[in-house]
Amino acid sequence: MTLGAASLSACGSSDSGGDSGSGGSGGDETITMGFAQVGAESGWRTANTTSIQDTAEAEGIDLKFSDAQQKQENQIKAIRSYIQQKVDVIAFSPVVETGWDTVLQEAKRANIPVILTDRSVDSEDDSLYATFLGSDFVEEGEKAGQWLVDNASDMDVDGDGSVKVVQLEGTTGSAPAIDREEGFNSVIGSDDAIEVIASQTGDFTRDGGKKVMETFLSSEDGIDVVYAHNDDMGLGAIEAIKAEGLTPGEDIKIITVDAVKDGMTALANGEINFIVECNPLLGPQLMDLAKQVVAGEEVEKRVVTEETTFTQEQAKEALPDRQY
Ligand code: AHR
Repeated sequence: MTLGAASLSACGSSDSGGDSGSGGSGGDETITMGFAQVGAESGWRTANTTSIQDTAEAEGIDLKFSDAQQKQENQIKAIRSYIQQKVDVIAFSPVVETGWDTVLQEAKRANIPVILTDRSVDSEDDSLYATFLGSDFVEEGEKAGQWLVDNASDMDVDGDGSVKVVQLEGTTGSAPAIDREEGFNSVIGSDDAIEVIASQTGDFTRDGGKKVMETFLSSEDGIDVVYAHNDDMGLGAIEAIKAEGLTPGEDIKIITVDAVKDGMTALANGEINFIVECNPLLGPQLMDLAKQVVAGEEVEKRVVTEETTFTQEQAKEALPDRQY
């Protein structure tokens, strides 16, 4: 699906003759992008921020960057300030799915196109944004669930005939937390032996994952598997498991999502058992889309990033070349 060029033209770009860059804030050809980042909650997010900042610099895009510290109100403030500054294009990764329509309507009224990156919004009106670039989080959850189903006999660590899973959820209300749970559940439902016995948010942070895992270890009997919605929470869970005198990856199996360097290192060392990749290097595609959108060109409404999965053996091979 594509979006009509009319709704994509940027502030001040009507006399730019179709050149990339409207100079909405400065009157020259340089594109100004306002980017409202979620925060710095994980290794994934740090890699994502670096990719966006480095690519903007390399492409000569004037990037105004803000870190919302995982708070929706901060992202909304940042977006309003970008509207006031008359940037050419706004991009952001919504911390949660709902509650964006008002500020997106303000951007639309100001004729500033918006690109969603990494995470999407739950809105009935898809004319409020030009395109959404990011992963298929449901598919990521399905991949995690499929690996568990395929390896279920090895996952029943205590041999009691059931595979007891505890889930470390990402930020409550965020697209990756909602979708990774949904995808995982849809696949494990095919195996009656697999059961999620507890699930709680660790807010995508290492510290959150550690604290929630400590609670699970004291409240739940016979945990076989941890399914963590990102590497950082899985790495926090590893610390909690070790503190109990147990061996992560053996006494309790661990599945995570992201495949950042720290996660891949733990996978190669045998402390994690399987990782579903979520690619944070969105900078190049984002800047390309921004140029097209500002020039009034048609773009795909949904751009899905390509991703893979890693076993322990595959992590050993991939690790030396891992960029993030
Ligand atoms: O939205 C992507 C998710 O956000 C990553 O999986 C997680 O690490 C990050 O915090």
